[in-house]
Amino acid sequence: MMTKDKSARATGDTAKLEIDGQSYDLPIYKGAVGPRVIDVSKLYAQSGHFTFDPGFTSTASCDSDITYIDGDKGELLYRGYGIEQLAANGSFLETAYLLLNGELPSSKEFDEFSNAITNHTMVHEQMQYFVRGFRRDAHPMAIMVGMVGAMSAFYHDSTDINDAHQRMVASRRMIAKIPTIAAMAYKYSIGQPVVYPRNDLGYAENFLNMCFAVPAEEYHVNPVIARAMDKIFILHADHEQNASTSTVRLAGSSGANPFACIAAGIACLWGPAHGGANEAALNMLQEIGTVDRIPEYVAKAKDKNDPFRLMGFGHRVYKNYDPRATVMQQACHEVLQELGIKDDPMLDVAMELEKIALNDEYFVEKKLYPNIDFYSGITLKALGFPSTMFTVLFALARTTGWVAQWNEMVQDPEQRIGRPRQLYSGAAPRDYVNLAKR
Ligand code: CMC
Repeated sequence: MMTKDKSARATGDTAKLEIDGQSYDLPIYKGAVGPRVIDVSKLYAQSGHFTFDPGFTSTASCDSDITYIDGDKGELLYRGYGIEQLAANGSFLETAYLLLNGELPSSKEFDEFSNAITNHTMVHEQMQYFVRGFRRDAHPMAIMVGMVGAMSAFYHDSTDINDAHQRMVASRRMIAKIPTIAAMAYKYSIGQPVVYPRNDLGYAENFLNMCFAVPAEEYHVNPVIARAMDKIFILHADHEQNASTSTVRLAGSSGANPFACIAAGIACLWGPAHGGANEAALNMLQEIGTVDRIPEYVAKAKDKNDPFRLMGFGHRVYKNYDPRATVMQQACHEVLQELGIKDDPMLDVAMELEKIALNDEYFVEKKLYPNIDFYSGITLKALGFPSTMFTVLFALARTTGWVAQWNEMVQDPEQRIGRPRQLYSGAAPRDYVNLAKR
């Protein structure tokens, strides 16, 4: 794992802040690319003032070398490599190595890494009993949160965050076992027996086999579909300091073990404004049902008094096209073509909705483009996954990013427990009144 050179970020410039006639100089830093950053970390100690930034729209929470997004340009880089190039030429395991280690692997490094991941895909057999404790109709994301959190109980020999070897073992265990856990959650939710991992298959291939094979008959993974799945994993592998990654970092900042931190990230990802959006987007397309009903839903999305939003549109950071959506759209068409899916009414709704939203003044003005979740839902449905599994697949792929970000945080000498402050608007100090007098 890499350590970074912090001195490179100093610009020597300062920003001046004046409060009640008193002036404060705040250091300005420069990243490798992207906007400059004003350091307010000493502001409270110096001035007695906090900064206020709900939703962290102007706040950098950490100094990271892993992923870069330029929302205006619609650019996403993993360790400097464009997502389009990685998705077109690389594999998910190569991408995982890159995110974890900072560089693309040599063929020797790649062999060692992929062997290590491939040979640790099985989970502790007792986890089979653990999964059976869930309700029959449990949402697979609920099972994911529970199972990944429970890994700290099954693999407690890799929970010491101060031991570099244990951190490495925990990181690899998570990347290796998360597809097995995700497939177990799926099989349990549909009442089929668990299919054990196969180490002769590639990462995505093995996952598809665990999801769709049954003991009663032979199952062969279509290589075009396996490649599309691998691409989907690459596209979702990391995304800078989004809500779930920040959750992983915040949980990890207290010294919590890595399995508990990733479980916290999965819980955060579940929300419909984040990873749950692909499930929500597909449910929305199903609800719209036919092309003639689109105007009704577009009107609802534009109505300020209606909380309805077009799921799969808009992004906090991308105010231009989501670069992942471009690759995802292409992968979506490849899958549909391979599977011979042409006349799907939901697809007609999706294509027409995309066309309308891209030309509608409201969406154009607010720069609300289709995001990755708009196309991933359609693709995953075509692959045979129920919508409840969509966020699980997102969590599977994002585990790699979370693990890389967690490792970076643990090794960061500037790292302290995350402890935001608040603008308190509640009652001023007052005296307790006895129950009888209230
Ligand atoms: N449909 C209709 N209007 C929208 C939408 C939408 N999907 N998204 C934003 N707006 C409007 C919003 O009402 C607001 O209007 P106004 O300025 O008149 O009040 C304006 O656009 C800005 O919205 P915001 O909520 O301030 O933007 P945000 O950056 O806080 O939210 C978002 C980003 C992704 C949560 C939001 O666009 C949204 O809820 N989209 C639908 C859910 C979705 O697809 N999420 C997946 C994100 S990509 C996957 C990931 O990275 O997790």
